Amino acid sequence: MTTILVTGGAGYIGTHTDIELLNKGYDVISVDNYVNSSPVALSRVDRITGKHVIRYDGDVRDPQLMDRIFTEHHVDWVIHFAGLKAVGESVAKPIEYYDNNLGTTLTLLKAMKKHNVKKIIFSSSATVYGKPKKLPLTEESPVGGTTNPYGTSKVMQEQILKDVHVADNSWTIVLLRYFNPVGAHESGLLGEDPKGIPANLTPYIAKVVMGELPQVQVFGNDYNTPDGTGVRDYIHVVDLAKGHVAVIDHITKPGVFVYNLGTGHGYSVLQVIHAYEKACGHKIPYVIKPRRPGDIDACYADASKAKRDLGWEAKLTIDDMAASSLNWQKKNPQGFRGAKE
Ligand code: NAD
Ligand code: WQD
Repeated sequence: MTTILVTGGAGYIGTHTDIELLNKGYDVISVDNYVNSSPVALSRVDRITGKHVIRYDGDVRDPQLMDRIFTEHHVDWVIHFAGLKAVGESVAKPIEYYDNNLGTTLTLLKAMKKHNVKKIIFSSSATVYGKPKKLPLTEESPVGGTTNPYGTSKVMQEQILKDVHVADNSWTIVLLRYFNPVGAHESGLLGEDPKGIPANLTPYIAKVVMGELPQVQVFGNDYNTPDGTGVRDYIHVVDLAKGHVAVIDHITKPGVFVYNLGTGHGYSVLQVIHAYEKACGHKIPYVIKPRRPGDIDACYADASKAKRDLGWEAKLTIDDMAASSLNWQKKNPQGFRGAKE
């Protein structure tokens, strides 16, 4: 039996990954302090799969807790999702962001080393590429030039993990650089549940469709893109989750492996709004606003390496992303707040 420890297993990408792992027959342990999630999400994973996620409620930065988990279970792989991820908040709270993102990684690595568990998948981000000089972005594109503590913490964590492999080449280090994860589970029981007014585009659009916000603010229409609005590589969270299973199924040797997880296609802000209009069946009001500081014109992946090595590619479309996200939003207007199971 293969056992996977998922840090941040109650979060948005974590829960979708728990499901794919359980469906493949892996045992799943989640450790989460619910700073940006709810234990209800884990109950829903159990409900969807008919299986059970073993839970530890606590902070990955707690060395005693991590020691306990590795003592109580034989862990084969760790998937490290736990961290803080709001770009704007990271600018205002650099200490908290570096503490959490670097602290979780270091405490986790110390526990893994002590217990001789040497296989880890790390949630990195396309943000590590900074402002792209050339598109599409390949795994060899230069890294750095990040403009906020969140992005910089991802660059730093990648470096820490690479250094661990330099010191001991029996480690398997997999750095997955996610592009823009969106969408929700088809059951409508799980999805993204940001606190307060969403900072990211698709949860914001969903709130406008629900009538909770008056209109979408389109940040800039003078970018160097076909319609002037920002272009991103949106990837369905279920496809993304499957990418983690593909890593576990295909990577059998030690080393450092880096993969872009994206679709390879860019969509503009207006194209995303149109996909949501198609999904809800009516026009969505929007207004053009100035550019958001730090934003880039366009960003999309060359996703061919993951296809070649892992046999993985994103299958779901932008229409699937919009429809599933609205299904989740309509069934859970308050997200997980107030939900009982
Ligand atoms: P999320 O906030 O939904 O999930 C992160 C989970 O980690 C949450 O459940 C949170 O409660 C938990 N957590 C945070 N700090 C913790 C700590 N110290 N101890 C225990 N648990 C802790 O975010 P997500 O979208 O699922 O992202 C997962 C990972 O993927 C993050 O590392 C994020 O930076 C990375 N990532 C996300 C995106 C994105 O747009 N969603 C893009 C690229 C990379
Ligand atoms: C997408 C596009 C905006 C909101 C962020 C992080 C990145 C990664 C994914 C974690 C851009 C435009 C947005 C709005 C808008 N996360 N926009 N109105 O900035 O590509 O990536 O999430 O690693 O690190 O930076 O995603 O959804 O915020 O923006 O017009 O209300 O939508 O300008 O072109 P972004 P986003």
